[in-house]
Amino acid sequence: MDGSYKHLLKGNREWVKERLAMDKHYFKKQSTSQQPEYLWIGCSDSRVPANNVTKTQPGVIFVHRNIANVVIQTDLNLLSVLYYAVDILHVRHVIVCGHYECGGVSAAMQNEDFGFVNNWLRSIKEVYAQHKTELEKIKNLKKREDRLVELNVLAQVHNLAKTRIVQRAWKNGSLQLHGLIYDCRTGKLNDLNCKMTNQTHIESIFRYNL
Ligand code: CO
Repeated sequence: MDGSYKHLLKGNREWVKERLAMDKHYFKKQSTSQQPEYLWIGCSDSRVPANNVTKTQPGVIFVHRNIANVVIQTDLNLLSVLYYAVDILHVRHVIVCGHYECGGVSAAMQNEDFGFVNNWLRSIKEVYAQHKTELEKIKNLKKREDRLVELNVLAQVHNLAKTRIVQRAWKNGSLQLHGLIYDCRTGKLNDLNCKMTNQTHIESIFRYNL
């Protein structure tokens, strides 16, 4: 093991000590079950860890992360996480969190060939194409990228709403979808005010008779 890798294990031992100093039964309690209230779908970017930026403890947020926080209907990983969080853990809120300075969104705005990643970024290019008029009115490229970050989150919240998992949860109880942006320039999370709580938020063709 090189020094930098060992650093992680050293950090872990220190963290365990700190936890036990606060509550000697901490890990005993943690090991019995989890009852998170939130599912967080965020970017894999190392600067946006869900618990840190929301000042929450382990056990509060169930997390799925991928490049540029996209919700793709054929992504078995995402669908499994969503199903487990909603149907089994009964989370009350599903949050899509994007962030400014997102490498994935920035890459999707270019015509450069990123090899295999092109496939993953395709859905963000679709969002761009859909909002091309609005986006290309913004001459400052950094501001245009920021807007695409926001539009991407809005599109992914819609994609969540189109899933059977979310629509069944709406029929059988309450579930709220939210879109957030993490601003890594200030550390602040901003709500995009796109809360969805029922099928009326999406085009009728996507509504299932459940
Ligand atoms: Co990102």
